[in-house]
Amino acid sequence: MDRIDANLRAALSTSAASQWLNLRLQFIGVIVVTGVAAVALIQKEFSVVDAGLVGLALSYALSITSLLNGSITAFTETEKEIVSVERVMQYIEMIQTESTDYFQMPPFAWPAHGVITFVNVSLCYRNSNPYSLKNISFETRPCEKLGIVGRTGSGKSSLIQVLSRMVNNFEGAVFIDGVNIANLELRKLRSNLSLISQDPFLFCGSIRENLDPNYLRSDAEIWKALLQCHMEEKIRSMGGLDAEIEERGQNFSSGERQLVCLARALLQRTKILCMDEATACIDYQTDSLIRHTVRMAFRHSTILIIAHRIETVMDCDRVLVMKDGNILEIDKPSVLLSNP
Ligand SMILES: Nc1ncnc2c1ncn2[C@@H]1O[C@H](COP(=O)(O)OP(=O)(O)OP(=O)(O)O)[C@@H](O)[C@H]1O
Ligand SMILES: [Mg+2]
Repeated sequence: MDRIDANLRAALSTSAASQWLNLRLQFIGVIVVTGVAAVALIQKEFSVVDAGLVGLALSYALSITSLLNGSITAFTETEKEIVSVERVMQYIEMIQTESTDYFQMPPFAWPAHGVITFVNVSLCYRNSNPYSLKNISFETRPCEKLGIVGRTGSGKSSLIQVLSRMVNNFEGAVFIDGVNIANLELRKLRSNLSLISQDPFLFCGSIRENLDPNYLRSDAEIWKALLQCHMEEKIRSMGGLDAEIEERGQNFSSGERQLVCLARALLQRTKILCMDEATACIDYQTDSLIRHTVRMAFRHSTILIIAHRIETVMDCDRVLVMKDGNILEIDKPSVLLSNP
């Protein structure tokens, strides 16, 4: 009811304003017509006027109200559209791009092993907040499958945020195959990471554009990736690779969105794959099929798997247990299970 009230109040104001404007414009119209008529009368007193000319002048004067109305509408419309231009200008000028001074070219064929090293990393999102990561140090082995578990809010996703440099204000250093990620160009860093986040992002466009934005892969490769993620049937039923994905992937369920992101990762085949609860919204059977797919497709990559379910990380080489931003332990899953 409140909202209807608010809506009506605004509508009433708009209508009152336009009535007021109309009244004024018609008033101006009346003045102009009266002026023309008066001039005609005065001319009649002093000389002879052509009746046809007076008629023409009057008929032009009569249309002045609608002309004024039109020009005012055009003026306000222009002013409204200018706001959009302003906003675009703001995006162009205000958003800072990263500086290009300190880039180091990584060695050829980097990263060869995908060894991730965290050295005393601490992270505090905002100055007033407590630390989300506290002095974290660990190192993965080449092509290791590392599971990460911990309570909600223990800082699991924050590790990925640091690794992908979504946040830049962390203390300590992170190395990938010996190269400090702080010295790398963002594009270089992120093109070597595949990320399936907790809240997967699909953009507006066709399925092909979402999976392979640079048009580097053939249709057959894309279909193969979709088949591996058990999304082939769904995409076929939507009308193939050119089917449209709505804004933020709203025409997919969260599980399906994660599967599409996984297909994207499969096509990229990067040396490092991070899955942030990537199979949280997927049923158990599909989950185990997917795990098998990932293990096969990324057997030469380092995989970080963040999970709530212990089954998801049981087949990892090691599991890292987080608690309140600290590493509690890191060991083989069998050892952790026998030592609760
Ligand atoms: N963008 C942010 N701004 C401020 N604080 C944040 C932000 N993201 C996370 N945090 C804080 O950092 C801490 C760790 O969050 P994180 O997302 O890493 O937890 P998590 O282990 O991934 O939890 P979950 O299992 O729920 O995904 C939380 O206490 C949270 O409040
Ligand atoms: Mg998380």
